[in-house]
Amino acid sequence: MEKFRFLTSGESHGKGLTAIIEGIPSGFDINPDFINEELKRRQQGYGRGARMKIETDTVEILSGVRFGKTLGSPVTLFIKNKDFENWEKIMSTDPQDYTEDKSFSAYRPGHADFAGSIKYNQKDLRNILERSSARQTAMEVAVGAVAKQILDKLGISCSSKILQIGKAVNPEDFHQEIDTAKEAGDTLGGKIEVVYSGLPIGLGSHVHWDRKLDGRIAQAVMSIPAIKSVEIGDNPLGFTGSEYHDEMYLEDGKVIRKTNHAGGLEGGMTNGENLVVRAVMKPIPTLRKPLNTVDSKSMQETQAHFERSDTCAVEACAVVAEARIACVLVNEILLKFGGDSLEEILKRVNCER
Ligand SMILES: Cc1cc2nc3c(=O)[nH]c(=O)nc-3n(C[C@H](O)[C@H](O)[C@H](O)COP(=O)(O)O)c2cc1C
Repeated sequence: MEKFRFLTSGESHGKGLTAIIEGIPSGFDINPDFINEELKRRQQGYGRGARMKIETDTVEILSGVRFGKTLGSPVTLFIKNKDFENWEKIMSTDPQDYTEDKSFSAYRPGHADFAGSIKYNQKDLRNILERSSARQTAMEVAVGAVAKQILDKLGISCSSKILQIGKAVNPEDFHQEIDTAKEAGDTLGGKIEVVYSGLPIGLGSHVHWDRKLDGRIAQAVMSIPAIKSVEIGDNPLGFTGSEYHDEMYLEDGKVIRKTNHAGGLEGGMTNGENLVVRAVMKPIPTLRKPLNTVDSKSMQETQAHFERSDTCAVEACAVVAEARIACVLVNEILLKFGGDSLEEILKRVNCER
């Protein structure tokens, strides 16, 4: 059973986004300013679209926290879509407000429009766009910011960086790469790296496939919109065994490593080294210079639908990946150590160190 569970809801241009998180022990400090800082990080980054300038996301904590500390009860978060005032009629939940305004039918290759509209039997592709949009990752970042505050108390910290944008591997070239793509009406993807340090040994397990932490992290990161590959540690392709595996030595009676090719996981368990996760994001599928496609209503060849979109969202994607991994790690900590309060968990985690 999962110990740290959450569900999110909300459409891209609906009233807002909601999450209910269940399983947070009592006594953890939850600072809304930190959540808002994380939301801001997700909205920033060179190459984001106009929407990021319209909205500054702010979280509202609706339950589960009193005077800044968790109570052990479900924590509910809400983020208002500030653009909703311009979409109130279009995204109304009331049948009387039906309108075709902002509906579209030209599939965007690379997006969820085609398969989603067939699966859910929708003629108006907006009914698919609204939830498949990466807007939902704002709430995931908020939930991740709660998870990070739990990890912080346990001495676990996180960082991330961009390894590549388009073809550029030198950070000094990233902006130029994005400008060139933008001028051409095109989009870019890239590669990110997330590192977590301070993890106790033995999160995850080798005993069953669905308990292996590499698999759990891969699922959490791979399902971020537009992520198409996930690596733990250094990609082992082409290494020999003697080059790749991290040899062990003794220092003051402790086992140490001089390398971390494995990225902190062996046998599906944390091994005390830094957890290193890398992931590749595909180029954004909504292009200002639209791709060839088919119109779902007329069944004629046409140009794909375009609306306000990012040229490149790799930086934001790194923030989302940090958040997704934070949630997996909190769950694993609760599975291994249990406990209903901060004090109980701290004692148990510190005993292992
Ligand atoms: C932070 C972030 C921002 C994104 N922004 C856009 C965007 O502005 N326009 C777009 O078409 N896709 C955007 N995407 C990617 C799409 O959401 C994604 O490609 C789409 O949902 C299809 O899913 P898939 O690529 O995983 O198959 C973004 C993804 C992330 C993680």
